[in-house]
Parts: sequence; structure tokens; C-alpha cells
Amino acid sequence: MDQAAGDIVLNVGSGSTDGMAPGEQGLPPMLLELDRVTKRYGNMEVLKDVSLHVRKGDIVGLLGDNGAGKSTTVNVISGVVQPDEGELRWMGQVKQLTDRRASAELGIETIFQNSALVDSMTIARNIFMGREMVGPMGFMRQREMREIASEVLKTIVAIEGIDSPDKLVGQLSGGQKQAVAIARAVHFNRTLLVLDEPTSALAVRATEALFDYLRHLRERGITSILVTHNLFDAYRICDRFVAMAHGQVVLQAKKGEVTVDDLVEVVSRGRLSSKEEREAAGVPAS
Ligand SMILES: Nc1ncnc2c1ncn2[C@@H]1O[C@H](COP(=O)(O)OP(=O)(O)OP(=O)(O)O)[C@@H](O)[C@H]1O
Ligand SMILES: [Mg+2]
Repeated sequence: MDQAAGDIVLNVGSGSTDGMAPGEQGLPPMLLELDRVTKRYGNMEVLKDVSLHVRKGDIVGLLGDNGAGKSTTVNVISGVVQPDEGELRWMGQVKQLTDRRASAELGIETIFQNSALVDSMTIARNIFMGREMVGPMGFMRQREMREIASEVLKTIVAIEGIDSPDKLVGQLSGGQKQAVAIARAVHFNRTLLVLDEPTSALAVRATEALFDYLRHLRERGITSILVTHNLFDAYRICDRFVAMAHGQVVLQAKKGEVTVDDLVEVVSRGRLSSKEEREAAGVPAS
């Protein structure tokens, strides 16, 4: 596997990120690049030479099987985990993200796989947690926050079974909690939204609402990275794909360059068949 690594990195997307200036070749400007990022836990290399790029306004699907390294990559992008080697560039500039706040300051909003919400607080308080609206006297503007929360719940993420922002988060199902976390993230209109498995516990209607919202954000030039196991969903919504296996990037491709079957194959096998293998199997080269 490791030995074949050089062969299986198919950079069929918009090419290597090396030396690519923002907006080059009429492409949207480069927003985020990871350049040969390695992360070790003890002697286990969880990320190995991970290079990927995300252009402004794209919805990028970060794909891969369990343990492929997706959440670790999300943690690096969010500043929660620092790489042992390699660098992260934001709009072409090298950044050292020492913590989550550092990524938030750049405009990166992350919904983690296990989103941290406070059970004993209301939905409204959770949505505004850490960014409470405060009046001139230092009092929290509860009514305004409630009204906005109510609006966000209705329009952004239609959460099944939630009618009031005053409900305690502890009384919600896992899927409803995730939807609150999504509502929180999308309300604060970030430059880059990173969603780690946001739809795994969402009902169909809430998933569709989220996808509509991601499309809406894209129209406004806001970029998203979507980590998902649902490759059909990914194919529907994403403009580009980055697939990982065993801590490495094994495919970067634009939507028009791969089929959903290619994604299934690359995720399940950890690589895409070579041209020779395809020909041997009678699959016409695309
Ligand atoms: N803090 C940690 N300490 C040690 N090992 C870790 C740590 N975090 C992740 N790992 C290991 O790194 C590998 C990649 O994990 P990661 O969570 O990035 O995978 P993933 O692609 O998000 O998987 P899933 O689809 O199951 O969420 C796994 O083998 C995991 O056990
Ligand atoms: Mg994960």
C-alpha cells in the first residue's frame, strides 16, 4: 500500500497546488492549501504527506473509509491539531493555526463529527454560544438572539420536530443536535464551512435543506468542505472531490472527471483502477 502510494495519487483535478497563483488560468482564487502535511500519534502516521487544495466558492467532498484520516484533516484545518510536518496556506499565506480560535479568526467554521453542544442550555443559547449578542450595558440581548435563532431554525435547517428555540438541547435527538450545530455554523456566514459528517444523523428533509443552503452559500462565494460517507450525496452536491485512504490523498478530481462509481471504487479499494486494469476488465477508458 505504502509502496504504491506514488502511483495511486491521481491528481486529475485542477492540477498540483505547487506554485499556483490565486486566480491562475481563470480559476477561482485559491483559498486553502495543505502542503505535504504529516501528523503522527506516537509512531502511527495518521496523515502522510497530505496535499490538497480548496478554491473559493467550491463545495469539496472529503471522502474516505473509516479511519482514512478525514477528521484528522478537518482538525488540522480547524487548528485543533497541529501538523508535525508540512504547511497550511490560507489565501496563499502560510498560517500556523495554534487553536480553533485561530481558524475562526480566518473565517473557518467547523462542525465537528461529534459537535459540542451544551445539553443544559437552550437551542438559542447554543447557537450563540461564545458569540452572544450583548447590549451597551453588558446584558445579553436574549430576545434578539431568540428571534434570530427562531428564524435560523425555520429557514436554514428545517429541523424535524423543533418548534421553539427555547427547547433544551439535552431534550433533542442526536440528529436534531447536529442540525442545531449546523444552524449555528451557517448563521455566522463564514468564508469556509467545514462539515464533518453533518448528515449522518439528519432526516432526509434536513439533509436537503442543508444541501440547498450549501448551494446558496456557493452562489455567494462561500466555500464548503463536506466530509461524508454517502458518496451519492457527495456526488450530487460537490464540485470537487478529495479522497483519502490510510492517511493519504488518493484522488483529487473535479466532478466532470469522475463518476460516482469511481468514487465508490476509490473509497472502497483505496485507489482507482489503473487504465490497464480497466481495459482488462472491459471497462472503456473515459
Ligand atoms: N487523538 C488520536 N490519537 C491516536 N490516534 C488517533 C487520534 N485521532 C485519530 N487517530 C487515528 O487516526 C486514524 C484516522 O482517524 P480519523 O478520525 O481522522 O479518521 P476518519 O477518516 O475521520 O474516520 P471516520 O470515517 O470513521 O470518521 C485512525 O486510525 C484513528 O484511530
Ligand atoms: Mg471522522
